Amino acid sequence: MKRKCFIFDLDGVIVDTAKYHYQAWKALANDLGIDFSIEQNEQLKGVSRVQSLEKILKWGGRTLDPIEFQDKMNQKNTNYLEYISNMDTSELLPDVDRVLRFLTNNNQFITLGSASKNARPILDKVKITSLFDAIVDGNDVSKAKPNPEVFLKAARLTKSKAKNCIVFEDSVAGIQAANAAGMISIGIGDARILHEAQYNFEDFRGLSNTFLENLIKKS
Ligand code: BG6
Ligand code: MG
Repeated sequence: MKRKCFIFDLDGVIVDTAKYHYQAWKALANDLGIDFSIEQNEQLKGVSRVQSLEKILKWGGRTLDPIEFQDKMNQKNTNYLEYISNMDTSELLPDVDRVLRFLTNNNQFITLGSASKNARPILDKVKITSLFDAIVDGNDVSKAKPNPEVFLKAARLTKSKAKNCIVFEDSVAGIQAANAAGMISIGIGDARILHEAQYNFEDFRGLSNTFLENLIKKS
């Protein structure tokens, strides 16, 4: 059996934390007197903390001095950390566990490619850290998605060629990053939004073991 590298985004793919990022950003934006819609939130998915705040300020036509900027980033993260403080295994998204175990049982590399600086404690909370061969998160990269750095780093850590990597992503920026890296991109979520992905699934329940087997066998 071939050994492929499966790269998972975290927020909105493994765990249902995308909603907490949304709520925390919305609270912060409203606090600054800026409206913030669900559509705008799509543009923040997969985007780093710094760039998210930059986008929100731009939408609101606002600027902050560096100290205020840092202060607002801290405020958002403190709020977000409160949301995730009581997280447990029940927040794993449907069938993630089955997919991870199927891949482990078939001797595939399992890696994380996330923009979040909170990724490691979240994996610990949902008790799946030990399933990962490599973890690349927001602390390990300097270029945010859609730049492919995060996925290329995961590939390097498992000595995998890009064409042997398969990326699961719920964000437009993440799908673009996977495509730019020359990897197989799988959109998890709304196919109309993630139309640039090579394959689309609403969630992992639609992703059969046979489909995974075919990805492993694919040359
Ligand atoms: C991504 C999320 O995974 O991580 C974004 O999709 C988030 O919404 C980004 O802004 C950075 O996360 P954090 O936890 O470092 O603020
Ligand atoms: Mg995500």
